[in-house]
Amino acid sequence: MKKSLQLQIINMVLFASFVMSACSERKPTSNSNDIESKVDSVLALMTLDEKIGQTIMYNGTWEFTGPVSGNNQWKAEKIMNGQVGAMLNVLTAEETRRTQALAVENSRLGIPMLFAYDVIHGYKTMFPVPLAQAASWDPEVARLGSDVAAREASAAGLHWTFAPMIDISRDARWGRIMESPGEDPYLGSEMAKAWVEGYQGDDLSDPKTIVACAKHFAGYGFAEAGRDYNTVEVSMQTLYNVILPPFKAASDAGVATFMNGFNDLNGIPATGNEFLQRDILKGRWNYDGMMVSDWGSIPEMIFHGYAKDTAQAAAMAMNAGSDMDMEGRVYEKGLKEKIEQGEVSVDLLDDAVRRILRLKFKLGLFDDPYRYSDVQREKEELLSAENLAAARDAARKSIVLLKNESDILPISKGVSSIAVIGQLAADRDIPLGSWRAQAVPNSAVSLLEGIKGAVSEKTSVEFAKGYTLTVGNRSFGKELTIVDEDKSGFAEAINLAKSSEVVVIALGEDCYQSGEGRSQMDVGLKGSQIDLFNELKKVNDNIVVVLMTGRPVAIPEIEADASAILETWFAGSESGNAIADILFGDYNPSGKLPVSFPYHTGQEPLYYSQKSTGRPINRAENVFWTHYTDGPNDALFPFGYGLSYTTFNYENFNVSKEEESIGISVDVTNSGDMDGEEVVQLYIQDVAASLVRPIKELKGFEKVWFAAGETKTVEFTLSKDDLSFYNEMGELIFELGEFRISVGSNSRDLTTQSITIN
Ligand code: NOJ
Repeated sequence: MKKSLQLQIINMVLFASFVMSACSERKPTSNSNDIESKVDSVLALMTLDEKIGQTIMYNGTWEFTGPVSGNNQWKAEKIMNGQVGAMLNVLTAEETRRTQALAVENSRLGIPMLFAYDVIHGYKTMFPVPLAQAASWDPEVARLGSDVAAREASAAGLHWTFAPMIDISRDARWGRIMESPGEDPYLGSEMAKAWVEGYQGDDLSDPKTIVACAKHFAGYGFAEAGRDYNTVEVSMQTLYNVILPPFKAASDAGVATFMNGFNDLNGIPATGNEFLQRDILKGRWNYDGMMVSDWGSIPEMIFHGYAKDTAQAAAMAMNAGSDMDMEGRVYEKGLKEKIEQGEVSVDLLDDAVRRILRLKFKLGLFDDPYRYSDVQREKEELLSAENLAAARDAARKSIVLLKNESDILPISKGVSSIAVIGQLAADRDIPLGSWRAQAVPNSAVSLLEGIKGAVSEKTSVEFAKGYTLTVGNRSFGKELTIVDEDKSGFAEAINLAKSSEVVVIALGEDCYQSGEGRSQMDVGLKGSQIDLFNELKKVNDNIVVVLMTGRPVAIPEIEADASAILETWFAGSESGNAIADILFGDYNPSGKLPVSFPYHTGQEPLYYSQKSTGRPINRAENVFWTHYTDGPNDALFPFGYGLSYTTFNYENFNVSKEEESIGISVDVTNSGDMDGEEVVQLYIQDVAASLVRPIKELKGFEKVWFAAGETKTVEFTLSKDDLSFYNEMGELIFELGEFRISVGSNSRDLTTQSITIN
């Protein structure tokens, strides 16, 4: 007993001198060998309780250490005892500093904690929601957006964001589609990589970067019937070819953490899923980062009917590879018992703790645990003019022009009168989107403000509310009812439309109709919005619809009758300015849909990359087998679709066999009279394969700027890997034979050539 205490003291001295030397050097601790030996030396000092402590993450609240409420006191004590590895939702430079001090200055080993938060599309400065960022088809938008978010969040003392969410989703009913990069694994992978690079930069010890988290591993976006948290049943083929690629891309980009999910995957909860976490992630991909559970997802395995009690849930999660328990309170209650009973090995716990400590070293927290909590930087960084300008640029690049009949857009800044109609047009809160971190409520530039700020003095801009979107309960986990039967604003809106040259009407959703726990069985527009639109149509032919939505919406009436449609999503802090930039031609729209828009909710899940069926639709021969008899089968607006104020022609499409690859080139001409950008898209089809393959798969894209009248040759190369697919075992296989190669401006309008590889 005495001996072990002595050993402990010697070790502590060693540790103290190690910490001191690290402090005095103040160098980034990025050398991996160096870090590994430091991790080992800390681990060697830890008791079982302290090790378990590192795997525990608690939720904090605003002013966690402020006037300590009864609720928080026990957590403060746990921190001081070295029994907490991380906290989420503790914010601001001051508060994170105070909370960190509880750990560093009171616990036996003084190991710093990690502070995490859901910084999804900005911290204070809101960027467009992630689905919108994906609509830019411009990884630079994603990279810059997460770089700005990292700078703001890190200035507020945070080390770690629970983003990016890279769950591929093909169901517009799922509320979290808003947080995702959309339906396609290739686009999703490109965005995943860019988001990770933006948050993490190339050096985690730089206090302006934060740790990213690839979530939710895996399958969460395939919730049955689009109901959040629901069962996920997918084939191995879909898992490997559709769901996992963005995660692999994030892992390859060096994402430092992963989060598992609430869902079960083919009968096994993701959190307790050894196949996903140990075999694939930490095994095949050799991932050395850390896996955090989703909030309470470890004890939720009891509700899944997978674990019988808390202790079993703890053992299952740890054995499966969940390194940290987010607010589940299960590792704290059950892990020690299971280790003592031999159901969880100390080696596995050590592995989890190593991953957590490694991260803390990489962040430089052992050098200076307060390095992120910088009050001065926080003041300068949050909502800086530079950050807002970046948000405006990202927003306009994310907006998609869906229709522009007779070139009604752009509107001249000298137009005599504009009627701005619809509650959403004057709203300063909804454009901030859901998962808006620390955005100041009602701080977005509204569409009305944006328009007023853009037009000339000659233009009269008047507003009528028209419809009302009354949201029953915006709180998370509560029933969200949209009540909109009040048509008392219709007369005013109709009169205004009658007397105005152009009508700009904002239609869409409350931002809390999408997001976590906010799935919908109907993705049409709620309430009387369509009725109002129909009334306005009778009195004015120039109707421009500005959509604000967090998901694809079914709007066939609007597609048929509006003069122009802009999908602006939830565009963030600078929403109104960015939309006005497009309405008045200061920016030529360049966004493309990252998701298919349906005619009707009944088409969901809807995606372009369908597999071939034995009875395909054959329009030429008027044969319609795999189809609905009461409505269209195609998308209203397909994946990859988006117009510009100019037009692009594709010519001289050439596909050639090279030694180890296929070379593709196409001449694209800006045939209009405005400069603009086009996203040139490349798709393939593997015509006959040992597994049924999709009729089209995106394999490349290039966003290219063209001066008016300019022609550029756009080139792609397809390697053997690009033509391969994963089999049921997760092996990437290449099969000889015919491939159809297509290029074009969206997944529907393509030119195709065949090539055979033997
Ligand atoms: C639950 C969500 O599923 C996850 O994405 C989020 O990061 C955590 N809550 C923490 O807020």
